[in-house]
Amino acid sequence: MSNSEATTSSPVARLEIDGKVYELPIRRGTEGERAIDISQLRALTGCITLDDGYANTGSCQSAITFIDGEKGILRYRGIPIEELAEHSTFVECAYLIIYGNLPTQRQLSRFSELLSDHQMVHEDMKYHFEGFPATAHPMAILSSMINASSCFYPGLMAGGYNPERFEIQAARLISQVRTIAAFSYRKSRGLPIIYPKRAYKYTQNFLHMMFSMPNEDYPLDPEVVRALDLVLLLHADHEQNCSTATVRTVASSRANLFASAAAGVCALWGPLHGGANQAVIEMLQAIHDEGDDGTKFIEAAKSKKRRLMGFGHRVYKNYDPRARIIKKACDDLLAKLNTTDPLLDIAKRLEEAAIHDDYFIERKLYPNVDFYSGIIMRAVGIPLEMFTVIFAIGRMPGWIANYKEIMENSESRIYRPRQLYIGQTLRHYVPVEERG
Ligand code: ACO
Repeated sequence: MSNSEATTSSPVARLEIDGKVYELPIRRGTEGERAIDISQLRALTGCITLDDGYANTGSCQSAITFIDGEKGILRYRGIPIEELAEHSTFVECAYLIIYGNLPTQRQLSRFSELLSDHQMVHEDMKYHFEGFPATAHPMAILSSMINASSCFYPGLMAGGYNPERFEIQAARLISQVRTIAAFSYRKSRGLPIIYPKRAYKYTQNFLHMMFSMPNEDYPLDPEVVRALDLVLLLHADHEQNCSTATVRTVASSRANLFASAAAGVCALWGPLHGGANQAVIEMLQAIHDEGDDGTKFIEAAKSKKRRLMGFGHRVYKNYDPRARIIKKACDDLLAKLNTTDPLLDIAKRLEEAAIHDDYFIERKLYPNVDFYSGIIMRAVGIPLEMFTVIFAIGRMPGWIANYKEIMENSESRIYRPRQLYIGQTLRHYVPVEERG
């Protein structure tokens, strides 16, 4: 295939199959990235493309988040993550991601009001919580309960997608996912449910519902609130990752917002994706308990006996900018709380060893967002089994924005990939008595 950009005004790629040459348009994104448009490929050539794991496949055009994995750049709606991390809040970023621009004061107040108005889950949802065993993983509860919520709002998709109704549903989902998450934690600990308070802001309310007691409010430390808010903000979107692609796939069938988000939670759960934040702490704890300084683990990772969790990324071939921000925030928070964490020391030693080791250098493996996020969540007091849930709460605006993008695109089609069949060719049914 050759690129003949220089010779034509609309650049094309040439593909030769069986001596016949086909021209495929090359599309250019706003940041200069290029994609060969193969939407007519099968109709023209009878061939499909094969790209296991989709590493070379653009599944959609999107205007939400930009990543340059080579340079370590991440921007929400064009704004660098570093600027947002320093100046913004999770709720403001949620608005930015969903609606495309930073909100005016009035828009922000309205959005915050909507979040407060819809923060209570339906009281009957409490009966659903009672059905789960205390040992249930909170991610299982979260996905089930998000889906169950849709039962309480039967008009979710009535009459098709509607922007006004969507605004309420989006606020309801962002707000209630936090309430459901806190309730599922209380349930797992056998603790009474604590309801949200209207006076509290988003992240304050989450900490309140997690840690207050009926007769004693959890003391909100502004440093802790800010650290958790930063974690949510840094997770708010990350273009077409496994869970977001799942949300888009479900949305493409015109399923409702809650069903699509519940599917996203399931996809996020796995240790190669959002579940890595829990797996990182388990790995660091094991290294600590084994008395290893990290050297043995690095060797085991290089010989593929172990995997250095929180390292490597499909898109980043450079330092994940979110990991850099969280690493500094970890140092700042532990200093402000006047405490230390031996797992942070191990993490830093592992990073130091890995970034100077040929195995990791050649494969461009750097810390990703999950490498340090668990340390900061530990410092905030979030229990280990809730780490991936925090990721899910943070990612909700991104999923909602991607859902909205699908619904508002009149040309969007159902996501339905093809396959290269490698099974048995035609054979015939044999009755059971003749099968031997
Ligand atoms: N430790 C050791 N080796 C690794 C690691 C790692 N963490 N990650 C990748 N490699 C190696 C692979 O073994 C492979 O080596 P090879 O070329 O000798 O076969 C090479 O690097 C390329 O790795 P792939 O698995 O092909 O990369 P892929 O893009 O498919 O996977 C992934 C990316 C899943 C993130 C992977 O790096 C990984 O498993 N990391 C650990 C889990 C993790 O931190 N996940 C969170 C990702 S961020 C997120 O989802 C929020």
